[in-house]
Order: sequence, then structure tokens, then C-alpha cells
Amino acid sequence: MFEPVKIAPSILSADFMNLARDIERIDKGGAGFIHVDVMDGHFVNNLTMGVPIVKQLKRVTNVPLDVHLMIDNPQKQLPWYLDAGADYVTVHAEVLDENQLCEIIDQIHQAGAKAGVSVKPSTSLEVLKPVVDRVDMVLIMSVEPGFSGQSYIEGSDERVAEVVLMAREKGVSPLIEVDGGMNVDTVGKVCAQGADVIVCGNAVCAASDPAAALQEIERIANAAQA
Ligand code: DX5
Ligand code: ZN
Repeated sequence: MFEPVKIAPSILSADFMNLARDIERIDKGGAGFIHVDVMDGHFVNNLTMGVPIVKQLKRVTNVPLDVHLMIDNPQKQLPWYLDAGADYVTVHAEVLDENQLCEIIDQIHQAGAKAGVSVKPSTSLEVLKPVVDRVDMVLIMSVEPGFSGQSYIEGSDERVAEVVLMAREKGVSPLIEVDGGMNVDTVGKVCAQGADVIVCGNAVCAASDPAAALQEIERIANAAQA
């Protein structure tokens, strides 16, 4: 029996001058998470948002905040995001060695939050092996991190299948989140392979009716999973 797929709209594609309005729209659409893309201009070239946005989001929504840290040295800033009310904090495996990754996961758990680990499209999934049974979520990037509105990289669904298998072999089932280029045409293939959480930037937040767009993607995701 599968759990329903959750949609995590990325506010990177929202209208920042009308952020409260956009949050209300995606809340009403039934968002499972609100995905917050933090970029530092180092790990990725782009620079986006940080702790103050997380703090303020926490005041206006009860939807769990899924904070995706695309930053170098996440250990330095981690306590701020935990204090700000992040429900899930996901760090990139590319910027941490195995010990650092384990330490950061423990730190997130000690604060009562859920821990995620993410890999870029070209990163070997081997790096997940030591932590797949320690994390609550694995985030598979299906575009190069840095910008919303990019096209889905074909073959990302096969990476989802590999992670599902890796987790199963260890007897665990972390949430598998897919991020990048998700829309009505691409969501089916990753959900058919076992993705549980779908990040949607442009396809939801930039749509004329974000709630309707979210629900349509969710419908296709769940149909593909079954
Ligand atoms: C990319 C970000 C994504 C992005 C998704 O680096 O991590 O979350 O905002 O946007 P879309 O769905 O438009 O590809
Ligand atoms: Zn993201």
C-alpha cells in the first residue's frame, strides 16, 4: 500500500512582492510541503533567500517547511535554520564528507527536525549508501541546482529506482523527493519508480491558478504510483 504522493511547491517561483498571497494559494491547493530553495552564490552561482524568509513563513503557514540548502559549509548555518522553524533540512552530499554528513544528520534530529540528503544529477549514488538508513528524505536533483524553470534531465527516474532499491536493501523507506523540471509531462515517470515528494517551481507557483495546477500534478503523480 503506497502513501499518497505529496507536492512541494518551491517558492523560488513565487511572486516575492505577493508572497503571502501565493502561500495562501498553495496552502489551499493542498501542498504537502513548502519547498524553500536556499542558494549561497558559491555552491551554486545563484543567490536566493535565507533564514528571515523561513522565520516569516513559519508564522503564516502550518504546511511543513522543506528547506533545501544549496550552500557550502551547511554546518555553519544549520542552527539558524533549525531555530527558524525548518521542519525538514536537506543538505548536499557533495559538500560534506561521510563523517560530516552523519554529524549534521544527528544535529538536525537532535533539534527535532527531519534530515534530508541531496545529490546533483551527476553525483554517484554511492555517497548515499552510508546514510540512506539515517535520513528521513533523499532528494534526487533532476536538473543542475541553481535555477527554476529548467528541463527535466532524462534518466533521473532511473536514479529514483536505484535509491528505492538501496533503501529497501537496508530495510528502510526514506521519502524520495524529486526536484527540477517536474510538471504534468514528467511527474508520472518518477512516481512510477517510487518518488514520494515532488518539488514544483514553475509548474505550480508560476501557473495562473496554482491550486489547480498543484492538484492536477498530484492526480497524475498518484495515478502513476498506483
Ligand atoms: C533548483 C531548485 C528547484 C527549483 C525547481 O536548483 O532546487 O527547487 O526551484 O523549479 P522548477 O520546478 O521550475 O524546475
Ligand atoms: Zn530545491
